[in-house]
Amino acid sequence: MRIYSKMKQLARHTRLLEQYPIISDQIKRPALSVVLREFEKTLEVDGDIVELGCYIGTTSLFIKRILDQSGSAKQFYAYDSFEGLPDKTAQDNSGAGEQFKGGELNVSKKQFLNEFHKANLKPPITIKAWFKDLRNDQLPEQISYAFLDGDFYESILDSLRLVWPRLSEGGIITIDDYGRDALPGPERAVRDFFQDKQISLHHEHNIAIIRRA
Ligand SMILES: C[S@@+](CC[C@H](N)C(=O)[O-])C[C@H]1O[C@@H](n2cnc3c(N)ncnc32)[C@H](O)[C@@H]1O
Repeated sequence: MRIYSKMKQLARHTRLLEQYPIISDQIKRPALSVVLREFEKTLEVDGDIVELGCYIGTTSLFIKRILDQSGSAKQFYAYDSFEGLPDKTAQDNSGAGEQFKGGELNVSKKQFLNEFHKANLKPPITIKAWFKDLRNDQLPEQISYAFLDGDFYESILDSLRLVWPRLSEGGIITIDDYGRDALPGPERAVRDFFQDKQISLHHEHNIAIIRRA
């Protein structure tokens, strides 16, 4: 019975990816499939869901569809500056060329909410803020799943500082752009943040996967 229900879960994100469009080029299908697969593993873990760096909602729409189809009562929080990326710091410099600059990927909160409207989905709790300015009361007390997609070193470090202390046992964090030569910030932030902590980390399609034991 357990195996059957796991197979059903695994099929859900694959089915959704067949059924609905990926609405931006900010995440490719293989990476999105990893993010959603890991999310599905946490549906029975206590806590809510956060996405830090939601942009136009490419991934958020699929997270919401999975939540709805699974009948979950979890809350979903989506965060973004909705002013585009912040400036890079030295930790984002790479010999492999420039990818992204401060101010790029600028979409408004209205545009994000409109994608949910068009998809006939209720939007997540959507918060416009720089990650470093988020207050305690703007985050769930307990997190079961986090997708961090802030592209730069400080953005990922700020996200980890917020998420890690709230992550439930069995909870999972996935981080985009891990191990990408032209965007070295995310991997550097992960290494710095976890250097004194025991974690299990692996990565697939530039998605780092960290599970709290
Ligand atoms: C690559 S996009 C995210 C793509 C999104 N996850 C999707 O699936 O469509 C990165 C987003 O992170 C946001 N961002 C990056 N650093 C941030 C920070 N420090 N505070 C707030 N937003 C930030 C940018 O505004 C941008 O929308």
